[in-house]
Amino acid sequence: MKFLHCWFLPFLIIAFDILELVQAQDQTGFISLDCGLVPKETNYVEKSTNISYRSDFNYIETGVPNKINEAYMTMFQQQTWSLRSFPEGQRNCYNFNLTANRKYLIRGTFIYGNYDGLNQLPIFDLYIGPNKWTTVTTQGVTNGSIHEMIHVITHNRLQVCLVKTGDTTPFISSLELRPLNNQTYVTQSGSLVMVSRVFFSPTPTFVRYDEDIHDRTWVPYIDKNYSLLTTGVSVDTSNLYNVPQVVARTAAIPENESQPLTIDWTLEEATAQSYIYMHFAEIKNLKANETREFNITYNGGQNWFNHFRPPNFSITTIFNPGAVTSPDGKFNFTFTKTGNSTLPPLINALEIYRVLDLAVLETDQDEVLAMMNIKATYELRKRPSWQGDPCVPESYRWEGLDCSYPNSEPPRITSLNLTGSNLTGTITSDISKLTQLEELDLSNNGLSGEIPAFLGDMKMLTLINLRGNPEVNDSVIPESLQQMIDRKTLTLLLDNPTTKGKRKHVPVAAIAASVTGGFALIAIGAIIFFVLTRKKQKAPEASEPVSVTTGTVSTGTRSSNPSIITKERRFTYSDVLKMTNNFARVLGKGGFGTVYYGNLDDTEVAVKMLSHSSAQGYKEFKAEVELLLRVHHRHLVGLVGYCDDGDKLALIYEYMSNGDLRENMLGKRSDNVLSWENRMQIVVEAAQGLEYLHNGCRPPMVHRDVKTTNILLNERFQAKLADFGLSRSFPIDGESHVMTVVAGTPGYLDPEYYRTNWLSEKSDVYSFGVVLLEIVTNQPVIDKNRVKPHISDWVGFKLTNGDIRSIIDPKLMDDYDSNGVWKVIELALACVNPSSNRRPTMPHVVMELNECLAFEVERKHGSQEMYTKNSTEFSPSAASDFSPIAR
Ligand SMILES: *[C@@H]1O[C@H](CO)[C@@H](O)[C@H](O)[C@H]1NC(C)=O
Ligand SMILES: *[C@@H]1O[C@H](CO)[C@@H](O)[C@H](O)[C@H]1NC(C)=O
Ligand SMILES: *[C@@H]1O[C@H](CO)[C@@H](O)[C@H](O)[C@H]1NC(C)=O
Ligand SMILES: *[C@@H]1O[C@H](CO)[C@@H](O)[C@H](O)[C@H]1NC(C)=O
Ligand SMILES: *[C@@H]1O[C@H](CO)[C@@H](O)[C@H](O)[C@H]1NC(C)=O
Ligand SMILES: *[C@@H]1O[C@H](CO)[C@@H](O)[C@H](O)[C@H]1NC(C)=O
Ligand SMILES: *[C@@H]1O[C@H](CO)[C@@H](O)[C@H](O)[C@H]1NC(C)=O
Ligand SMILES: *[C@@H]1O[C@H](CO)[C@@H](O)[C@H](O)[C@H]1NC(C)=O
Ligand SMILES: *[C@@H]1O[C@H](CO)[C@@H](O)[C@H](O)[C@H]1NC(C)=O
Repeated sequence: MKFLHCWFLPFLIIAFDILELVQAQDQTGFISLDCGLVPKETNYVEKSTNISYRSDFNYIETGVPNKINEAYMTMFQQQTWSLRSFPEGQRNCYNFNLTANRKYLIRGTFIYGNYDGLNQLPIFDLYIGPNKWTTVTTQGVTNGSIHEMIHVITHNRLQVCLVKTGDTTPFISSLELRPLNNQTYVTQSGSLVMVSRVFFSPTPTFVRYDEDIHDRTWVPYIDKNYSLLTTGVSVDTSNLYNVPQVVARTAAIPENESQPLTIDWTLEEATAQSYIYMHFAEIKNLKANETREFNITYNGGQNWFNHFRPPNFSITTIFNPGAVTSPDGKFNFTFTKTGNSTLPPLINALEIYRVLDLAVLETDQDEVLAMMNIKATYELRKRPSWQGDPCVPESYRWEGLDCSYPNSEPPRITSLNLTGSNLTGTITSDISKLTQLEELDLSNNGLSGEIPAFLGDMKMLTLINLRGNPEVNDSVIPESLQQMIDRKTLTLLLDNPTTKGKRKHVPVAAIAASVTGGFALIAIGAIIFFVLTRKKQKAPEASEPVSVTTGTVSTGTRSSNPSIITKERRFTYSDVLKMTNNFARVLGKGGFGTVYYGNLDDTEVAVKMLSHSSAQGYKEFKAEVELLLRVHHRHLVGLVGYCDDGDKLALIYEYMSNGDLRENMLGKRSDNVLSWENRMQIVVEAAQGLEYLHNGCRPPMVHRDVKTTNILLNERFQAKLADFGLSRSFPIDGESHVMTVVAGTPGYLDPEYYRTNWLSEKSDVYSFGVVLLEIVTNQPVIDKNRVKPHISDWVGFKLTNGDIRSIIDPKLMDDYDSNGVWKVIELALACVNPSSNRRPTMPHVVMELNECLAFEVERKHGSQEMYTKNSTEFSPSAASDFSPIAR
């Protein structure tokens, strides 16, 4: 059973006639916005839920109201009929005034409904404050997508932002906030993003308010492995989680009652930490000689809960108080009836969440407030970038600001530049709240009044520019300000300069500081679980478990101090000598130096020696290494550690025993030919790695050297991208590289980048397109003896001559899904489009490739699993398919 993408719901309509009406619940604390609803004072009660919606007008300053195509309206609840789209600005944010420390369920609903008539499915990112919540994709014109998360408001403000990431325009249909009891859904750190929330019912009826007083969305699920148990009797649902009656009154049992019940799922991000809530109630009237008792284990026999007997007609919730992870993101739960049980195991409902690490800290709150006031005072509403948090994420920092990003502390504003911004009135005292300000540029405006005395109390200031403000009275310079000028710590620029100071250059803190810790992983261990039964029972604190299984407590503490991680991963040169057995075995020569085989505590590693002279700057090297040590993705070759001992620099990577994709394509490693499915699996994985560099990393990274020799395969033939991230401090060398300012490998190099020297993610997309052409054709990228030397020109040439079959690698022996191959060629040609604007983005590439892989898997294995069709996370382990060539 798979719960993938359960939140993509084709229909949102609730067939409420089959549900018993529960007594009306009040909507205290609900914020229900129908985005783009006009006129702005409109509000209404939605018919199927009785939820009162109102326009989002008071919560957002930007965006354009629209309506979905009328033909689709009857399919959906009213709050999705109108929507707000954001053609302007990269980031646009909703602002809420809330109470700090309260817990909320936050839900965004997105129904495209071809509102713009373009029939182009949007894809963009959703942020909660400065942290990325998720990527919103649209699967079809009428496929809704719902994203829910559970979040504790840290300050009195909450910002939910839509961020444009590609060519399509972000939009939102409705945005809803529901207060939750803060003793429920407790995490050790971070917020919870809903992966799935299901109950077991054959009716495709989606449950929310007012069956659910907290307005969670419950999706019905059932498949052939399960039978259903239902009851008409009311179930006591009064524990803290308040499961709806309709959800509590049905349960799944195994189809074959003598077999265990199993449930499995895969998380999109393999390393994600997860919280799982299972709700149980006995809903059969047990006879005296009947018992239902079962053990719950997961991932091959690890204990979750033993000897569990669901109480009669009363909901019990079992959850993990500390996060769990699984090495490959797969979870597999087995419910086995115990010896004394006469009845099979059951489950009534299941919720799965992943932890959203709130790694990016918001800017100092006083400074945020000051900037919001400055924005209001000077009517700077229309500045496109002045949305969301002023300093973070760094790539969306407000135009005209510079910030410092101290380690594990909120960012601070160090420079405010409002030159030529039509400012009028006096210099606002809100500026005084920016206590770390070093530069203030208010030149070329219509400001008036005195030079305010508070500037003299801002001791960090090194530069104030008030030139070009004819109305400012600069004949009086406040005493304390004059002292700073006299001490030469401050330069004050006025139209009629009477004084001169010396301007000091103030470096802005290094980029690495903005990426705070939070990548340490927790190993799965035996965990202590809570059982919550009745409301009357005191809710447990995370530290005092109520019901304990055998085993130890997972410490579950994450290192919050990145410098500690760094220290552990720094090695001396003598460590390196030991590790590599005095450089006994050369693995190859890579972009930056020779690579040796090594062993580190019984883990195989690859050690890349760098020459000091090739580093452009030692400081940059350090900064980049610190950054790379924090980049973790299952499809990126992980940096295990580094050495900077005297003039010896080395990088220590995980070892990839099956070499690179090129060697494998050429048959240099073994006689086995990579099948089409193998090839698809590898490019899907490599694409996911690249997508992560582009969209998952802060700051985003451009790889700059994507090619088949940089796609490495581990012992299970999982693909990982290598050699990323050092591009800034190291010039890429080696004879195969162009030694100009433009780095990269001929043939893979984006012609637009070559021409303009303007580097973007789209250059990687180009190179990736070349990789795709290689896996289809198995031809050299450049071959002077061909009619068209470059592979993309050659493929184009063959296609225009209608010669499709001759393009495809004959070694595949026609064993492939031709629709899939055709689709890959189309995609590859889109990627190598000379104009970077017309190339797809990596999320799009990943989506398309997944679809092709699914075609192939279905063709080969006759899979019925529909989820592969629209899932971007489909990634079965390649191990079994490859086992013939593994040792
Ligand atoms: C909505 O409220 C009206 C009046 O209170 C009630 O008659 C109706 O049954 C409610 N509908 C739902 C779906 O709760
Ligand atoms: C939130 O508070 C600010 C000032 O504190 C106010 O200007 C704004 O209108 C409020 N927003 C809403 C939606 O109430
Ligand atoms: C729980 O929420 C209440 C307000 O509903 C708040 O006063 C209290 O501090 C919160 N408790 C915790 C532990 O955050
Ligand atoms: C339980 O008792 C009933 C009679 O009350 C009997 O029909 C049934 O077979 C018994 N079941 C088991 C498992 O012993
Ligand atoms: C789940 O785990 C069990 C026991 O380890 C195994 O037999 C079964 O194949 C697994 N199922 C899936 C889908 O991984
Ligand atoms: C259930 O768990 C208990 C405790 O670990 C164990 O003794 C028992 O054998 C398990 N029963 C089954 C059927 O797995
Ligand atoms: C299971 O049944 C045996 C006797 O048949 C009994 O001794 C044992 O206590 C029972 N175990 C539980 C957990 O009820
Ligand atoms: C402010 O920005 C302008 C151009 O946008 C630039 O010329 C000026 O040097 C900046 N001021 C400071 C202090 O950096
Ligand atoms: C300043 O105001 C003038 C007239 O009101 C307008 O034409 C100009 O575009 C404005 N400039 C900016 C940068 O807002």
